[in-house]
Amino acid sequence: MTDPVTVWHRLAGDTVLLDGFHALKHALRFDAEVPVAVTADRAAALALADELAPDVRDALAGLLTEVPHETYASFVPRPHPTAVAALGVRPSRVSNLEKLARVPRTAPVVVLDNPRNLGNAGAVIRLAAGFGATGVVTTGTVDPWHPTVVRGGAGLHFATTVERLAADELPPGPLFALDPEGDDIRGVKLPDDAVLAFGSERTGLSGELRARADHLLSLPMRPQVSSYNLATSVAMTLYHWSAGFGASL
Ligand SMILES: C[S@@+](CC[C@H](N)C(=O)[O-])C[C@H]1O[C@@H](n2cnc3c(N)ncnc32)[C@H](O)[C@@H]1O
Repeated sequence: MTDPVTVWHRLAGDTVLLDGFHALKHALRFDAEVPVAVTADRAAALALADELAPDVRDALAGLLTEVPHETYASFVPRPHPTAVAALGVRPSRVSNLEKLARVPRTAPVVVLDNPRNLGNAGAVIRLAAGFGATGVVTTGTVDPWHPTVVRGGAGLHFATTVERLAADELPPGPLFALDPEGDDIRGVKLPDDAVLAFGSERTGLSGELRARADHLLSLPMRPQVSSYNLATSVAMTLYHWSAGFGASL
């Protein structure tokens, strides 16, 4: 059997770190390719699987190799309480683009226009996974598969389609851009093929996205409050879509 430490060092540069039991659990549930997984305490990890994730217990049992705690700790930025870490294969850009371009769509695509906060991007990917959104697209310089984003997404990048695109390459579908100056979202039913765009934390929507938008929508907010956090804005909008509120445009 190949030594997991050798395999880890060979693959680490080209794969994404799944940091902790829950990230690995989610990745396995959503069919990620996981070539190596280690733990400093295999019995504890499998007990956690028995308790919280019996559906992937056998897969975990087949994958997890126990290594000394110092070896595990050398693989991660800071040790996770579950002492589990794995490497997942990032889906190819070609397959992501194919999934994002597929029509008709049964759920929206979320666009983050030049997001700056990696934790926010991870939280949005987790939301998209929870609501069954088709995907999360980012514009700008941040890689949505950056290790900090993957950490924030709790392994749920594999439950949706995550890719970075230019603003002129967005998936097909009516573009609804969210902005405090837009029309009240409560009057509008968001279609399943909507592309839902959200602005950058500091500067809001770019001129390019704003110009491309078919509709500008606002979330209800009391006067004197400037804006909501990016991820909470996505949460409210996806909830609004899922509930089917409002009238068709
Ligand atoms: C933190 S806000 C950006 C604030 C920024 N200073 C601005 O001028 O818009 C990040 C994004 O969340 C969304 N957002 C926040 N509050 C909103 C609201 N009340 N209505 C619609 N979208 C909102 C928008 O897409 C916004 O660009």
